[in-house]
Amino acid sequence: MAIETTNTSVTVTATRSSEDVSLDMALRPKSLAEFIGQAKLKQSLQVFLQAAKDRGEAMDHVLLAGPPGLGKTSLAHIIAHELGSNIKVTAGPALTKVADLAGVLTNLEEGDVLFIDEVHRLQRSIEEVLYPAMEDYSLDLVVGQGPGARTLRLELPRFTLVGATTRVGMLGSPLRDRFGMTYRLDFYEEDEVVKILRRSAKLLGVAIDKESLVEVSRRCRRTPRVANRLLKRIRDFAQVKKHKMVEKDVVEMALEMLEIDEVGLDSVDRLAMRVLAEQFKGGPVGLQTLAAVMAEEERTLEEVIEPYLLQCGFIQRTPRGRLLTESGMRHIGLNDEQGKLV
Ligand SMILES: Nc1ncnc2c1ncn2[C@@H]1O[C@H](COP(=O)(O)OP(=O)(O)OP(=O)(O)O)[C@@H](O)[C@H]1O
Ligand SMILES: [Mg+2]
Repeated sequence: MAIETTNTSVTVTATRSSEDVSLDMALRPKSLAEFIGQAKLKQSLQVFLQAAKDRGEAMDHVLLAGPPGLGKTSLAHIIAHELGSNIKVTAGPALTKVADLAGVLTNLEEGDVLFIDEVHRLQRSIEEVLYPAMEDYSLDLVVGQGPGARTLRLELPRFTLVGATTRVGMLGSPLRDRFGMTYRLDFYEEDEVVKILRRSAKLLGVAIDKESLVEVSRRCRRTPRVANRLLKRIRDFAQVKKHKMVEKDVVEMALEMLEIDEVGLDSVDRLAMRVLAEQFKGGPVGLQTLAAVMAEEERTLEEVIEPYLLQCGFIQRTPRGRLLTESGMRHIGLNDEQGKLV
């Protein structure tokens, strides 16, 4: 059966496009006080930041885990800001040789924050160099080759590693255990998103009423990056249609044009559910197969699309694969006769 796809997902899923990089930077909260929501995380982080500052020591290493667009990179920068330290930024896939990481580590200064994004994508051989660096602030380098090779131990300045990952399960325990703190970022509450949107609207100079903010907060997958992106799209829409003030009807028209439904799902999310229902009778089906049928990358499916569908209770992850739930089926307008129910 024919299943159509549109490219709307490019505008609404939480992965970054180049446009978002500048939007992310413009709207990124700079201090912990400006960072909205994640109350427990903030409370705990505040204590450890303060303790490190009071002792004049580098803070323990921090792992930030959670779906895209929830604020991991923002928090890494905030940690450096709150410590009054410099931040050096790199990412797992950017470090392809041991020498790349050695170069980064030897360029650190006392008290620096080293941010490694997508830390689950570090190669094992590179990861191993991190262990002594994290534990003893030392770097073991092998100099020379063959029988003449020897290990050289370099002292590193005391630094704080902040790792971010969308896939904490993919991180080996030797690395995971070397982080002193692990924080999991959750999807935001609607009232928190309203606050984030209000702040963003101010920064972007968008006139928008309360009702509209609430509507966007319901339809942004409870993800700040998506909320900000929708706000920008709505602003464009209002401008072209000559609305000075964004009101609820403008939001509704803009979101309809973007094919975002009442719970914030876009056409690709719905496609995932329809493929599950129509081609696999509701599942279970393996991730790889589902991704292939959708012509979507496995990683995007697992890291970007699935987390929110799971959160909504529309799909389930089982050892045998993905299942569409009864409420998922209802959401895409199918009744029980058209597919197997969970
Ligand atoms: N708690 C928050 N308060 C205010 N704005 C936020 C918050 N969290 C995220 N944002 C906004 O969302 C944008 C995306 O956040 P960020 O880049 O930190 O996400 P991320 O978790 O690093 O995503 P990725 O996994 O894709 O790297 C930020 O630029 C910021 O504008
Ligand atoms: Mg990030």
